Amino acid sequence: MSQLFQPTSNTLARLALVALVAGPLLLAIIGGVLARSKYMTGEGRFVEQEVPFSHKHHAGELGIDCRYCHTGVEVQADAVVPPTHTCMTCHSQVWTNASMLAPLRKSLAENRPLAWKRVNRMPDYVYFDHHVHVKNGVPCEACHGDVRAMPLTRQAAPLTMGWCLGCHTSPEDHLVAPARVYDSAPYEGRTARDRDFARMTVARLAHQGRNLTDCSTCHR
Ligand code: HEC
Ligand code: HEC
Ligand code: HEC
Ligand code: HEC
Ligand code: HEC
Repeated sequence: MSQLFQPTSNTLARLALVALVAGPLLLAIIGGVLARSKYMTGEGRFVEQEVPFSHKHHAGELGIDCRYCHTGVEVQADAVVPPTHTCMTCHSQVWTNASMLAPLRKSLAENRPLAWKRVNRMPDYVYFDHHVHVKNGVPCEACHGDVRAMPLTRQAAPLTMGWCLGCHTSPEDHLVAPARVYDSAPYEGRTARDRDFARMTVARLAHQGRNLTDCSTCHR
């Protein structure tokens, strides 16, 4: 009889019991933390728009340049979401009667901009600037993912302070030659020119005495 209740089998039974109860609990907690973090940052989130504009179709398949629509991206902080007349350069001729484009025609007729909902958004107390990144070799894809493959635009990065600082602490591996910032998969096959440019940029920043992790870089 006593053989059945040895101390070792007791310990094993307890361990099994603990694993049975605590295992799923632990998994649930870890799962919850991961799910909540993505839920809170909005990473991966899609936004339904009045007109289901597809980057996959326009920028990917038709190959329209990002700058044709986002005219601010190389010259100012705001990249600019295109006004209706930019769409109408083509859609006054193609797909003129599509019901999908009815809000676009209404916007033109009433001379009122379409109400595009924001996908990526910084809080008011954070300063962000597009051209300073784009002109200095930070690819769109580093922050927005592979937009050319997106039927609906989604937020590709967490956009948290920790995420910004990840690159600001050591930007060298994240920079390419400025001519390549619009490329798909810019980090695949980084060239000697990309690396030279990255090294020069880091050296220039040091020479200018600029530290990208100073609070005042993003909070002014
Ligand atoms: C034909 C015009 C057009 C072209 C070309 C285009 N876009 Fe857009 N883009 C839009 C419109 C319209 C929106 C707003 C609707 C939406 O969010 O999908 C937008 C939204 C975006 C957003 C999200 C803006 C926000 O609210 O945060 C990003 C990021 C973006 N575009 C990146 C790109 C990149 C990168 C390229 C080039 C690979 C590109 N776009 C090419 C028209 C265009
Ligand atoms: C350079 C020309 C061009 C511009 C600029 C352009 N489109 Fe298009 N768009 C097209 C073509 C071509 C089609 C496909 C028509 C077809 O499939 O027969 C299309 C199709 C669409 C469709 C149908 C769904 C799809 O993607 O196939 C929507 C919606 C649309 N465009 C919205 C827009 C909006 C909004 C803008 C402005 C931000 C815009 N387009 C700017 C050429 C353009
Ligand atoms: C270093 C990260 C980063 C890079 C690189 C970047 N963006 Fe953005 N983008 C952002 C952030 C952050 C926002 C939200 C800005 C805000 O709310 O003030 C944004 C917003 C946008 C918007 C909405 C309008 C606006 O300016 O708020 C568009 C359109 C856009 N980006 C397109 C592009 C295109 C096209 C490129 C490449 C040429 C690009 N972005 C490169 C981070 C980036
Ligand atoms: C992938 C790399 C990368 C990411 C991600 C990134 N940055 Fe930057 N950022 C840079 C580099 C490199 C510079 C310096 C550009 C230069 O002047 O050479 C810079 C410069 C800036 C500047 C200009 C500073 C000045 O002195 O004028 C601001 C503001 C800024 N970043 C804000 C942000 C914010 C906010 C985020 C997050 C939403 C962010 N950045 C994400 C690489 C990045
Ligand atoms: C590269 C850009 C960047 C730099 C540098 C930076 N921040 Fe931030 N900070 C952000 C962004 C983006 C957010 C908003 C997103 C978030 O809350 O993660 C933010 C949010 C914050 C918040 C609000 C946090 C909250 O939970 O609401 C505080 C406080 C803050 N930053 C303090 C600082 C201090 C102090 C420094 C200097 C040691 C600093 N930041 C440097 C980009 C930056």
